[in-house]
Amino acid sequence: MAARIAPSILSADFARLGEEVRAVVRAGADLVHFDVMDNHYVPNLTIGPLVCKAIRPLTDAPIDVHLMVKPVDRIVPEFAAAGANIISFHPEASEHVDRTIELIRDAGCKAGLVLNPATPLSCLDHVLGKLDLVLVMSVNPGFGGQSFIPEALRKLAAIRERIDRSGREIWLEVDGGVKVDNIRAIADAGADTFVAGSAIFGTPDYARTIAAMRAELARGA
Ligand code: DX5
Ligand code: ZN
Repeated sequence: MAARIAPSILSADFARLGEEVRAVVRAGADLVHFDVMDNHYVPNLTIGPLVCKAIRPLTDAPIDVHLMVKPVDRIVPEFAAAGANIISFHPEASEHVDRTIELIRDAGCKAGLVLNPATPLSCLDHVLGKLDLVLVMSVNPGFGGQSFIPEALRKLAAIRERIDRSGREIWLEVDGGVKVDNIRAIADAGADTFVAGSAIFGTPDYARTIAAMRAELARGA
């Protein structure tokens, strides 16, 4: 199974964001994870479509937009126009989940649904066939640098089974508290796409950290 590393620029140095994006892609990132928070759905405020548009010319790596905003629909076309490749949202933040998925796909982006630690798997019923990605939060959304919630491993394993049964190619992404020393257990639970913010941007040598993550993923596999 292909493993993708998606550094979250939430933990980058925002005063040097362009350089940070270039550096992390040069260091081996597969995706650029872009955390959008609105001080309403989550208690923090970050970056929007203008910043997405500004970093778009700096890299060919897909931009993986994680919307932690409510409402969702109004902002989707703006992110598509700003160059997002993947747009994921939380079902609790959308009045009509199926419609939001359609909106993302009609805008030419891949669509992802994000499950908070307490969001039941049943939110995937009836929509899994339309999703390109399922994102499992292994922390409560809002801040970088939190600890991985172990229950996420059981959730990943259960979703991996559902994805495999669907026969569709759906990425299973995990977000929150992913580090070199737990990435292997998370992969064993079924994740194939790994968001990591502080674990990468908090280290001096991004390439070395990403290589250490890949070495863990390859170990004994
Ligand atoms: C949390 C964000 C995450 C966060 C991950 O709401 O969605 O992407 O930046 O940060 P770390 O890897 O530091 O837990
Ligand atoms: Zn995120």
